[in-house]
Amino acid sequence: MAGTPLDAKTQSALAHLRAAATAFAPAVLASSLGLEDMVLLDLIEDSRLPVGVFTLDTGRLPVETHDLVQMVRARYRTPVAIYAPEASDIEAYVASHGPNGFYESVELRQQCCAIRKVKPLKRALAGKRAWITGLRRAQSAGRGTIAFREFDDVNQLEKFSPLADWSDDDVASYIRDHDVPVNALHAKGYPSIGCAPCTRAIRPGEDIRAGRWWWENPEFNECGLHPRQGADEQKVHG
Ligand code: ADX
Ligand code: SF4
Repeated sequence: MAGTPLDAKTQSALAHLRAAATAFAPAVLASSLGLEDMVLLDLIEDSRLPVGVFTLDTGRLPVETHDLVQMVRARYRTPVAIYAPEASDIEAYVASHGPNGFYESVELRQQCCAIRKVKPLKRALAGKRAWITGLRRAQSAGRGTIAFREFDDVNQLEKFSPLADWSDDDVASYIRDHDVPVNALHAKGYPSIGCAPCTRAIRPGEDIRAGRWWWENPEFNECGLHPRQGADEQKVHG
């Protein structure tokens, strides 16, 4: 809606997307098919911005996320490139720790995320000059200082988070106003969705990321895709 606060935020997000697409080509959107990533995909398509889109399919995603990938293929023109982990990495991990070894310790959980997400991310970002994420400051205390744009020292390219200042309601309003397809799990109490064994529904009043790696101390509640700039290597945050 023209003239509303959300319209101003939408224009600002578009300006960041345009900057990524033009000044930092080739740029890519990292999409988990989460609500924010669906907003970004919709904006990219609507403005026909030359931005590629990829998703990291860890091999443990919920069936509803794959259903959404199929819906996206039907609705949007932009192809979603799917990156899978190395089979040999998975086989070695499973042989040593079992398929669900990640429940045993933070270290084993981070190792699983490293081979199923972080290593494929490196391949997805190779040769790119910018990546775009759906990170928002309101998602958790640890994300309170997310920048719209910063140099990603770890991956050595520009990182854009055009929805950094969007509230939960902003995201919901955009999705509703633009009839954007979303993951069916959102309606079942899952505001934030990752791998099936590491995501649960939240209860009323809980933090929106409380369902991610819920058995761990929230301090470790990140997977290593978004190490905090300047964080030491042992303590990987978002
Ligand atoms: S996570 O790091 O805890 O998994 P979260 O689910 O909040 O992150 O997503 C934050 C952003 O990271 C998303 O908006 C997206 O840009 C990126 N991201 C997370 N998971 C994936 C994935 N599987 N594939 C591609 N990008 C992802
Ligand atoms: Fe492995 Fe869970 Fe991380 Fe997915 S979220 S990569 S299953 S530890």
